Amino acid sequence: MESSTTDKGIFSDEASGTREEIVALLTKAYWMEIETVMSYLSASTNLDGVRAQEIRESLAEDIKEELGHAEQFAVRIKELYGVVPGSEGFSPEQSFLQPPEHQTDVIHVIRGVIEAESGAIQHYTRIVEVTDGVDPVTQDMVIAILRDEQGHRRLFEGFLREYEFEGKA
Ligand SMILES: [Fe+2]
Ligand SMILES: [Fe+2]
Repeated sequence: MESSTTDKGIFSDEASGTREEIVALLTKAYWMEIETVMSYLSASTNLDGVRAQEIRESLAEDIKEELGHAEQFAVRIKELYGVVPGSEGFSPEQSFLQPPEHQTDVIHVIRGVIEAESGAIQHYTRIVEVTDGVDPVTQDMVIAILRDEQGHRRLFEGFLREYEFEGKA
């Protein structure tokens, strides 16, 4: 059948290399989300102080969203015939989101969140580029997630701005 390549798209034999590349990118994205869940869970729990309350609540909301992203990445990895890795495949990268020396250090957490979100935005933008014209379903999914991360970063940039305005950051 002449049209078999277009019928199968990303699932065609010709696209297997691209499919593997996309699965690798999605796997990295999956781990980024998992690590973000860990980091935000510890940060939202550890933070102390009146001024930390807003940040704590915001992070607690984000945890659910980031876990939802991890689930979406996992499902898409499977749909593309990849295998979602087990915990032994995990290696941490968010050195900037380790607990601060003082648990009232809100600015440390805000900066760490901005860095984590920026990393996600950079990686997901790459996935959008790689999938362009070859895997519109993955691209569509990642665009929606990318928008969530842009929203998260914007929110925390606003928090940081407030501290900068007061000369505390
Ligand atoms: Fe996320
Ligand atoms: Fe996020």
